[in-house]
Amino acid sequence: MSLQVNRRELGKLLGVSAVAASLPVVASAAVLEGKGGERSFPAGFVWGSATASYQVEGAVKEGGRGPSIWDTFSHTAGKTHNGDNGDVADDFYHRYREDIGLMKGLGLKGCRFSVSWTRIFPGGVGPANQEGVDFYKRMVDTLLEHGIEPYCTLFHWDLPQALQDKGGWENKDTAKAYADYAGYFARQMGDRIKHYMTMNEMRTFVEVGYGSGRHAPGLSVGQKRLAQLNHYVVLAHGLGVQALRSATKKGTSIGLAENASAIVPVIDMPEHVAAARKAMRESNASYLSVILDGKYSELYLKHLGANAPVFTADELKTISSPVDFVGLNVYGPQYVRAADNERGYENVPWPTSFPHMPSPWLHVGPESLYWTPKLVNDLWKPKELYITENGCSADDTLAADGHVYDIDRVMFLRNYLTQLQRAVAEGFPVKGYFLWSLLDNFEWADGYERRFGITYVDFKTLKRTVKLSGEFYREVIKQNAIA
Ligand code: FCB
Repeated sequence: MSLQVNRRELGKLLGVSAVAASLPVVASAAVLEGKGGERSFPAGFVWGSATASYQVEGAVKEGGRGPSIWDTFSHTAGKTHNGDNGDVADDFYHRYREDIGLMKGLGLKGCRFSVSWTRIFPGGVGPANQEGVDFYKRMVDTLLEHGIEPYCTLFHWDLPQALQDKGGWENKDTAKAYADYAGYFARQMGDRIKHYMTMNEMRTFVEVGYGSGRHAPGLSVGQKRLAQLNHYVVLAHGLGVQALRSATKKGTSIGLAENASAIVPVIDMPEHVAAARKAMRESNASYLSVILDGKYSELYLKHLGANAPVFTADELKTISSPVDFVGLNVYGPQYVRAADNERGYENVPWPTSFPHMPSPWLHVGPESLYWTPKLVNDLWKPKELYITENGCSADDTLAADGHVYDIDRVMFLRNYLTQLQRAVAEGFPVKGYFLWSLLDNFEWADGYERRFGITYVDFKTLKRTVKLSGEFYREVIKQNAIA
């Protein structure tokens, strides 16, 4: 299927203990300086944070919400760390006003959040649940009152259980149900929301949900079924773009948030850069590439052989419905080099000493925040790019004085943002950056074990404490430059 191991799977394969090891010093003087000797970002750059419904909302049985596959999965013995689940999570459903106040205090300009499909259509398809619609209206209105722009993701993995019972993404009807839900939601929101993302990380929920089974719905369906459901997922994205287009006013910006492989040439020299371009297209063949190219690559189809998906030319047209922006979730890098094989590139293996954060899949490679937007820009020239997620886990603890001194996360962010500034200074159309995450939250199969927030959450009392990284980010936003 995919030509490379998903980063979460990689972490599991490595199985090594966390090392918040000393990070590479990446910044040369030239990199640090950017344009005009400054390290600033363009005026109007959208500094934001990102969260997702199941990871923060809690209140799973309130407001008429129906069950999703993550409720089922996290309540199945042995599926998540410690048996953790999202029943309460950060209780954002009740505390969103306080959390939006927090965002305001940090100076955030944008808030990326996702909608829980089963708050809108508890059974996956209509009838709708007005209480769910009203919750998002209230929440979005609160953002707007605080001058924070809402960036809405329609699907961040919490598929309605009722649809899973009918085959989930293996059933083509799910693609249509998704588009109906997306269009319905956008119509209800009126002109409150001007930025939509159809889906978050198709690669992850396809390959980890139905490949390795480490995420909900916890299946391992084999290559043929995986390729077919992957096709229905990109089809759902395309149908979603069309549904959102017809449900919203002209000028509404519609895109996606994908974890395209964060390809980095192993050394910045022509042959490896050329190899990196090929790798960017080929390793994303069934996700970003088919969406932006309007076709599956020959190599992808050749390698699948009899397992290739069944599709029509019309479907490819739908899948490649024009988007206004491409959102990139960038965490660890994938280093590639030129190779004398039919692909023209190969992945460079990881030395065991390569530094990573407590999540073993999260290798530290700040330059991925330069190369990912650069390579996507080189290949597809999207109108706009956003970094829709970037951030890291860290072993945060509350110090005796009540603060969280997460200097490892500060170092991570400073290095990554320095490379993003380099991309922006070179003119790639990156319009904003959404830090994952505003709050520590339910980190899927890792439960509450992995903290990604710039705000510490005490999961017993739900008290929030802004970490040092939050203060660092506030300063970046204030200066609109690397602090
Ligand atoms: C991304 C997910 C997000 C969060 C971060 C750490 O893959 O989109 O929900 O889990 O990783």
